[in-house]
Amino acid sequence: MTTRTQVVIVGAGPAGLLLSHLLDREGVESVLVETRSPEYVLGRIRAGVLEHSTVEVLSEAGVGDRLKREGMEHRGIYLQFPQERHHIDFHSLVNRSVWVYGQTEVTRDLMQARAASGQQAYYEVSDVTVHDLESAKPEVTFQDADGHPQRIRCDVIAGCDGFHGPSRQSIPADVSRSWSRDYPYAWLGILADVAPSTDELIYAWHPEGFAMHSMRSDSVSRLYLQVDPHDDVAQWSDDRIWDALARRLGHGQDGWQLQPGPITEKSILPMRSFVSTPMQHGRLFLAGDAAHIVPPTGAKGLNLAVADVAILSRALVALLREHDPRPTQRYTETALHRVWRCTHFSWWMTSMLHVTGDPFDAQLQRSQLEWVVRSENAAAGLAENYAGLSIGQR
Ligand code: FAD
Ligand code: PHB
Repeated sequence: MTTRTQVVIVGAGPAGLLLSHLLDREGVESVLVETRSPEYVLGRIRAGVLEHSTVEVLSEAGVGDRLKREGMEHRGIYLQFPQERHHIDFHSLVNRSVWVYGQTEVTRDLMQARAASGQQAYYEVSDVTVHDLESAKPEVTFQDADGHPQRIRCDVIAGCDGFHGPSRQSIPADVSRSWSRDYPYAWLGILADVAPSTDELIYAWHPEGFAMHSMRSDSVSRLYLQVDPHDDVAQWSDDRIWDALARRLGHGQDGWQLQPGPITEKSILPMRSFVSTPMQHGRLFLAGDAAHIVPPTGAKGLNLAVADVAILSRALVALLREHDPRPTQRYTETALHRVWRCTHFSWWMTSMLHVTGDPFDAQLQRSQLEWVVRSENAAAGLAENYAGLSIGQR
């Protein structure tokens, strides 16, 4: 069956869902195409920190009410190394805050907005292929959940299909270029039914490896441990995890206590930096993890996806409503400034906080951490990047 729409959005993660919502508010029609079920997409436990500009984009788009009601505004983070814990106060350093609100909740809010808009979405599709990218009428073909072949003709394809999706691969090899770094460590992440033992996130350097304490609500904690990328999650019993977290996060130090609780989710995440350019080819535009990946230490992945989509939606509205192609022609250049800033910041946080086994690295890391916690200028640099630059700012 052949149908027509203005924009086909491949992938219903945060990038795809937000793009569909922003376009709908400007009267641009889209169809969403996603390989997974809505329940699967909602069940993926991923990012947890929203920067200032992400909260602004979601609020201005009318999907920030629950975030403001149920999310937790944090004015900074704790940076820790053995015997020392320091608060980096973003609010007093750069007059910005961040919000702790899970990616699952952002996704739920966007799915509700999408359902209310009445625009079409195909979930559980297979064999998604993009065609005729260099023409003014590209197409997307796939099999729907019932196995029926579908063909959608459109003006623009938005590739929001994450790192493993087909969109980026459809850009010809002779025009694309990528940069990447794989890190020799991974994160073991847990979700636990226990009240957080801290009021704001703790990022801890420890000779045994990095550890982090985050949260999802007053009764749910999210914690991470640096582990070997080849580790099997089955080797990490609940007791082993809580013991390692207690040691690395400084249980007992100055009377601070880490409260353990039942673990409800446990997984190992690889860590990688990756940037691919261009973010557009003909009538195909990439946004979010489809174009770039950052290691999670700077809490940037979801925020970068939101920034891409904020820029892309404005450009597509100019193209499709005002017939002005100039903002779409500048999309890669505009988006990439922030992509590289976040890529550098995430690499820097990652390199400063993860143990490599090399004693020289450890000395440099300690020196850097001490500089950040003792120099207001250094702390302000961290705060400015963590709380995030304005979208479009260079
Ligand atoms: P995604 O969320 O990956 O969405 C892409 C969508 O495309 C998916 O729903 C996928 O099913 C769909 N798709 C794939 N292939 C196809 C196809 N062929 N056809 C149609 N649809 C397709 N960031 C942080 O800041 N902090 C974190 O703690 C953190 N933890 C993470 C943990 C994991 C395991 C992963 C993978 C990422 C994590 N991230 C984290 C990164 C953050 O979650 C991502 O940056 C964010 O999800 C990007 O959103 P996106 O919409 O671009 O991509
Ligand atoms: C999270 O809450 O999952 C989280 C928070 C901060 C990070 C990474 C992950 O840097």
